[in-house]
Amino acid sequence: MSKITAAITGVHGYLPETVVTNHDLAKIVDTTDEWILSRTGISERRIMKNGASSDMGTEAVKALLAKKGIDPLDIELVIVATVTPDHPFPSTANIICDKVGMTNAWGFDLIAACSGFIYALQTGSKFIEAGTHKKVLVVGVDKMSSIIDYEDRTTCVIFGDGAGVVLLEPNTENLGVMDAILRSDGSGRHYLIQPAGGSANPATLETVQNRDHFVKQEGKTVYKFAVTNMAEVSAEIMEKNNLKSEDINWLVPHQANLRIIDATAERCGIPKEKVMINIQKYGNTTAGTLPLCLWDWEKQLKKGDNLLLSAFGGGFTWGSVYLKWAYNS
Ligand code: UT7
Repeated sequence: MSKITAAITGVHGYLPETVVTNHDLAKIVDTTDEWILSRTGISERRIMKNGASSDMGTEAVKALLAKKGIDPLDIELVIVATVTPDHPFPSTANIICDKVGMTNAWGFDLIAACSGFIYALQTGSKFIEAGTHKKVLVVGVDKMSSIIDYEDRTTCVIFGDGAGVVLLEPNTENLGVMDAILRSDGSGRHYLIQPAGGSANPATLETVQNRDHFVKQEGKTVYKFAVTNMAEVSAEIMEKNNLKSEDINWLVPHQANLRIIDATAERCGIPKEKVMINIQKYGNTTAGTLPLCLWDWEKQLKKGDNLLLSAFGGGFTWGSVYLKWAYNS
């Protein structure tokens, strides 16, 4: 019997309508379009005015199921990567299942910040490879605007809101997720963190007054770790799978900073035209970036294409997934 692999057989996304440009942000914090564009590559981002992460996830999932003609009752498992769940509990996966009518599915949330989607993709793949599940949804969603301090120019210019989802199904043609290298180093937790709201610092008047429920980032330190580790892990997975740069059809990098993306592409010898970049439109949507790239490029992807997904984020967490695209659209 041929080996079962987990293939992505569909992708969709959701972006809120409201566009916030660099010029808009320059009206509320001391920044400029030139600074943001030259340091990050971002021109604008989407912000969700009303609603929660589950609403974006629900829209993306409903559209994917409609596109594929799949009954919500056929979905068996939903994994939601997010750092902005609707609530600490119940899980956003539970809420999305309810809103979409996926009443036969079980689900859970997974926290790995900007690496959330690749962690969830690898996790979901294992349920397919084990033969126990045939239809698994992996959602990456973040409403970053709910935890961003719009008085802090060092973070508010970077992040945006958005959701993406992929469907995983069994494949016997050796397509789909081929390999993954996932890493974490909790000693990096101090450099990118939402300090309050969890069990270490439950909400008090003081935590709110100190603005400790917002994301705090030591940008320069995170940049140094991100630029090295994202590039190294991408090169490592290529070497491990005997992939030369010309074998890679698409690099799918986490969209945190154009300079980090460029460094990763350069380290892997992958030319710019094979690198998915949409950071200029959406900013950093945390767990949303990778599925949103796949959605934006879906029509250009061909069956058998070699894709390298790479990410780095809070934790620290980072990693790379090598997958073979499974369909022509
Ligand atoms: O996805 C999760 C992982 N996160 C990342 O990968 C983010 C990694 N870090 C970065 O992308 C970059 O460090 C940032 C984009 C966050 C910052 O860029 P940078 O080139 O590292 O700038 P910096 O933090 O060294 O700041 C340089 C200067 C500072 O002023 P002084 O001290 O030199 O006077 C900042 O105060 O730029 C100032 N600055 C700004 N100026 C205008 C910081 N933010 C802004 C701003 N507008 N928005």
